[in-house]
Amino acid sequence: MASRAALRLGVLISGSGTNLQAIIDAIERGEVNAQIAVVVSNRPGAPGLERARRGGFPTSVIDHRRFSSREEFDRALAAELKARQVALVVCAGFMRVLTAVMVREFPNRIMNIHPSLLPAFRGLDAQKAALDYGVRLAGCTVHFVDEGVDEGPIIIQAAVPVYPADTDDDLRRRILEQEHRIYPRAIGLFEQGRLTVAGRRVLIGDLPGPRPGRYLISPPLDG
Ligand code: GRF
Repeated sequence: MASRAALRLGVLISGSGTNLQAIIDAIERGEVNAQIAVVVSNRPGAPGLERARRGGFPTSVIDHRRFSSREEFDRALAAELKARQVALVVCAGFMRVLTAVMVREFPNRIMNIHPSLLPAFRGLDAQKAALDYGVRLAGCTVHFVDEGVDEGPIIIQAAVPVYPADTDDDLRRRILEQEHRIYPRAIGLFEQGRLTVAGRRVLIGDLPGPRPGRYLISPPLDG
């Protein structure tokens, strides 16, 4: 079968870029038929830019401090992404809230990863908020970005147990490990054309049916 052209990704970062690295690695392992058209950071010194340069990917810095409004920043960002023929925008540790300007340019074509089981713990420091709340299960969510904050249609989630002795860092690391697994998977499903947004829900084509016993109970029943 003729291979499909690789899905062109625009990856947005602000920090370390470990999710960017996980996506790069998944593409290199042949798990996702995508290519990174550009890595854009709103922060000039983001360490993730170094990861992109090491991988030989085009980078661009669009410093949000240089713009008079979020809308102006989004217009510059959208122009850069369109110029690179980006088909899917991937927010990966991107700390800016996107406005309707970007959402209108890329309807259901912007993904974000959030380190909580949305709709719980939206916003910043979600891992700490979950720990402080005393939850037994925490996790992460990949969702499409709409005009709200951390509330777009959910594509995939991963749950992790929270242990009594956990520090913020312990939980952050445990969640991050799952982020690195579910983000490439979500991009792959999109590339395969298997995601359809129906209102609040994302329908996924060709998924296996329910499998009994795939439940996570924390603390475990036999603990
Ligand atoms: C991660 O916890 C992610 O959930 C959040 O930003 C943090 C750093 O991501 N969106 P990365 O290491 O920069 O990809």
